[in-house]
Amino acid sequence: MAHKEDAYIATPSTDDLWLEEDKGLLSQRLSTSRLSFYRESLHVFGLVAIASILIGTLAGIKLSPFLSDEVCADPSLGIWSPANDLIKYKTVTFESYFLGHEDSPWTRAPKESKDALWDSIYEFGISGISENEASNLLNETLTSPNDPDTYMIQLEVFHLIHCLNMLRKVVYPDQYPELWSYHDNGTINHDTRQAVHIDHCVDALRQSIVCNADVTPISFIENRLGRGIFPDVTATHVCRNFDEIVGWAKAHEVRDYQGKHLH
Ligand SMILES: *[C@@H]1O[C@H](CO)[C@@H](O)[C@H](O)[C@H]1NC(C)=O
Ligand SMILES: *[C@@H]1O[C@H](CO)[C@@H](O)[C@H](O)[C@H]1NC(C)=O
Repeated sequence: MAHKEDAYIATPSTDDLWLEEDKGLLSQRLSTSRLSFYRESLHVFGLVAIASILIGTLAGIKLSPFLSDEVCADPSLGIWSPANDLIKYKTVTFESYFLGHEDSPWTRAPKESKDALWDSIYEFGISGISENEASNLLNETLTSPNDPDTYMIQLEVFHLIHCLNMLRKVVYPDQYPELWSYHDNGTINHDTRQAVHIDHCVDALRQSIVCNADVTPISFIENRLGRGIFPDVTATHVCRNFDEIVGWAKAHEVRDYQGKHLH
């Protein structure tokens, strides 16, 4: 490059050469201006890129709590599940259903409506997947006794709801006396299969709660009568879209499964 520039400046003697020189200078000017255009473009591009990253980061930090239904990279989806692709997120403010609030339809309602409500969120919980899908499972699974092409699984959420539902019933022995067994001397028998199942459910829920370790802060509030301060459990959480998971499970339900113990 430098060699060529010298040559053009050093030989301005003939028209041809002038022509050559003009062409050369022209192309040199062109290439110089092209280069500086590229350089400037790069600078501008760099600035725009940096500004975009900064603005994007700030906007992301500021807006992320409000971005509902947004698919984020979630390491807790690291184990393959046929429902992983469905997962979206939304903000949910929990209900209290405690003193001074209305009763929960999930607990304090009449037995029949409670049972129906709980059944409506997990009774379809045994799902069928294809052999190809099943090949992704960390643990092998069995096929349906009625269909060798249907591989059976249960999404953990439905197992845990089943467990919680069982505990719900256990604390109302007047409404669900079948869950309680007694020795001849009238004391409670904790060694029945049912009792061991209930203990299994307590520990399954413990492990899941520890595993998910929800760190959403719960604020403290003064109670209405000014008799002390209490945790206000109506915190706002980022939750998974349970309804769409229910939709998947209903669409993949294994209807004819007759297991002895659905857990
Ligand atoms: C399922 O897989 C995990 C990880 O490989 C293993 O630790 C566990 O024992 C397996 N469970 C069964 C029932 O084989
Ligand atoms: C009641 O019966 C059970 C089973 O036979 C026995 O283990 C338990 O010690 C008895 N309890 C009392 C208070 O007698």
